[in-house]
Amino acid sequence: MLTKGEDNHMGKVAIYPGSFDPLTYGHIDIVERALEIFDKVILAIANNSEKSSLFTIEERLEMAKTIFQDTPNVIVDCFKGLLVDYVAKTNAKVILRGLRATSDFEYEFHMASMNRSLNPQLDTLFMMTSKDYFFVSSRTIKEVAGLGGSVDGLVPDLVVRRLKEKFKLPVTKKKQIGWDD
Ligand code: PNS
Repeated sequence: MLTKGEDNHMGKVAIYPGSFDPLTYGHIDIVERALEIFDKVILAIANNSEKSSLFTIEERLEMAKTIFQDTPNVIVDCFKGLLVDYVAKTNAKVILRGLRATSDFEYEFHMASMNRSLNPQLDTLFMMTSKDYFFVSSRTIKEVAGLGGSVDGLVPDLVVRRLKEKFKLPVTKKKQIGWDD
């Protein structure tokens, strides 16, 4: 857990919270673009027991830490409980979220409004997802991967491997479709 004292020298810090179950190239794109604006991005993985996740918090942390190991301005952390309480322990003033389409808007609007009501000092900044990842969500990635479809190019190779391990799928899955199926 990051404390206020630890990131005093960080400059402009944004918290990018999410379930990241799993991390996709859509998320990575947001982080990379945010680093053009902020000095540090804290990728904060929610350890929320109410939401059932495919990957454990340890697995999600390990994947994100490995993926960002060569990006020193990204700090991977996790939090339990209210996001505003976590943010208060850091020097971040901004919550960063990616916005894909109008369908995301209502959920995001409620969340940002609730967070602002809990802490009026906090703002949520939305970045539009790049067009290449507009259709990518952790939920659809899990669904497609679970059914044996390819998610190559939509999530990092490490995540592809972890999904295959999770769903106990062979590394390559080719099947002849015939009348006997
Ligand atoms: O990737 P997700 O699942 O859309 O991320 C949602 C997340 C984790 C950012 C949100 O559920 C959250 O902030 N959870 C922590 C609990 C909290 O603070 N809830 C009040 C916000 S309405």
